[in-house]
Amino acid sequence: MVNITFDTSRCVKCGKCVNLCPSRHLVMTDAGPEAKPGSCMGCLQCAAACPQDAVLNDGGRATAPEPFDTVEALVMTRRSHRRYRPDAPDRRTLQWALDRAAYAPSGGNRRPTRWAVVLGADKMSAIKEAALSWCAETGYAPDLLKAVEKGRDPLTCSATALIAGFESADSLNHGTDTVIALTTAELLLASRGLGTCWGGYMRRIADRAPVLREMLAVPENWHVCGCLLVGRPSMEYPNIPARPAADIHWT
Ligand SMILES: Cc1cc2nc3c(=O)[nH]c(=O)nc-3n(C[C@H](O)[C@H](O)[C@H](O)COP(=O)(O)O)c2cc1C
Repeated sequence: MVNITFDTSRCVKCGKCVNLCPSRHLVMTDAGPEAKPGSCMGCLQCAAACPQDAVLNDGGRATAPEPFDTVEALVMTRRSHRRYRPDAPDRRTLQWALDRAAYAPSGGNRRPTRWAVVLGADKMSAIKEAALSWCAETGYAPDLLKAVEKGRDPLTCSATALIAGFESADSLNHGTDTVIALTTAELLLASRGLGTCWGGYMRRIADRAPVLREMLAVPENWHVCGCLLVGRPSMEYPNIPARPAADIHWT
């Protein structure tokens, strides 16, 4: 999907690229990092994070415009954060982002989403434990359990907050309005220096597991349509690996 190579003259073998890869696609060797065949999803966390800019990809680098808080710069510099500081984001910022997300478009202007926010490392640990226990009991998401056994955490990514959006099962554009609102909130949170990562595992489990539905107070016949993990990022991404131009059929 993406051709990654390494400039060994610049690489200092700090291991950031290997450790950050969500697909565990890279290994560190005596000669420097190497890509294994297969599993890369092309997110280019490795290239974005490299302090030496030694991870090379076909598309090269992009430059975000100044000032940083323009929408274009926010869109280009946003990344999925999977390393967070232990101190949680403050409640007012989360409240502000969700209040402002009400300005996002929604089908029929119905704004059908109700939100649950889990705030703080202890509460996130409780959610994580409950989710993993439910998976172990039911056999759901064996790949997640395998990742956790290996010391990874694709469920919460060490985030200290979670925003979950629900919609009634009979809402007009089921799920779409929540995803638009959450995407809007994600950029607003980035504009205040917070990091986010979409919680796909978390959403699927929160929608199914009675224990999580109860913890998040999801009403009966409502569905969890989006989960966003949030926290104060513990690292920066100095580079913006370019993404390909849109594949468009113009008529
Ligand atoms: C709907 C959705 C679900 C996702 N679920 C997860 C997840 O469960 N765990 C995770 O670590 N990343 C998750 N991601 C993050 C993607 O892996 C990430 O967006 C993609 O690799 C591109 O990287 P970037 O966000 O840094 O640009 C999810 C992203 C989306 C949009």
